Amino acid sequence: MEAKQVAAQLRCPNGEQAADVAKQMNKANLGLNQQCIALLQLQAGDKVLEIGPGNAAFAEDVVNTAENIRYFGLDWSREMVDEALRINQHLIESGKAQFQQGNSAKQIYQNSQFDKVLTVHTLYFWENPIQHLAEIKRVMQPTGLFGIAFGHRDFMQDLPFTAYGFELYDAQSVSHLLEQVGFTIIEQQQYIERGVSNSGDMVDKRVEILICKLS
Ligand SMILES: C[S@@+](CC[C@H](N)C(=O)[O-])C[C@H]1O[C@@H](n2cnc3c(N)ncnc32)[C@H](O)[C@@H]1O
Repeated sequence: MEAKQVAAQLRCPNGEQAADVAKQMNKANLGLNQQCIALLQLQAGDKVLEIGPGNAAFAEDVVNTAENIRYFGLDWSREMVDEALRINQHLIESGKAQFQQGNSAKQIYQNSQFDKVLTVHTLYFWENPIQHLAEIKRVMQPTGLFGIAFGHRDFMQDLPFTAYGFELYDAQSVSHLLEQVGFTIIEQQQYIERGVSNSGDMVDKRVEILICKLS
């Protein structure tokens, strides 16, 4: 795939390539997602929202972290929601997971519905990040935690596909956005790994993980 096509697929996996793109993302982002899940301090009974889970291959890791966790996946790609429904059938049937198609800028969820919210490698695509973050705050319990992970600008800018529609950030600029909306960062980690990228090349990754509470 050409860089422009890769960028479009990462933004919103679609068409015949979508399922394969999701599998590639699962391979590229496995360790990062596991690290984010570990940092979210999941507890028994938590309701967890993931924004942009793709095919939600890691939903099982979330629900298996503690007793009675309920997982909600929200993705704006129809194809990703269909794949998530297909591969997580067993979790849906046991009432542990559900999936919706939608945009985190205007969510269908009620106020204070979730104990934890997570989003990994999605921020670059948000036209008005403040609007998305304010919606995340609205659907979170006052005692909840929000985890956001994104590739650092210095790493991302060398990837050919980020020239096409990616807004790039560093930890400072994202911290500023989060604070504007009313989040307080309680933990900041860099996830460093040499591994395959979303386009299949070997790269040295540098990803920022920020865990926040409501101020
Ligand atoms: C680059 S992929 C990352 C997938 C997965 N989180 C991972 O770590 O491998 C971005 C995914 O988020 C979805 N997405 C991005 N922004 C979104 C938003 N604001 N609301 C809902 N889905 C979004 C896209 O459709 C896509 O499935």
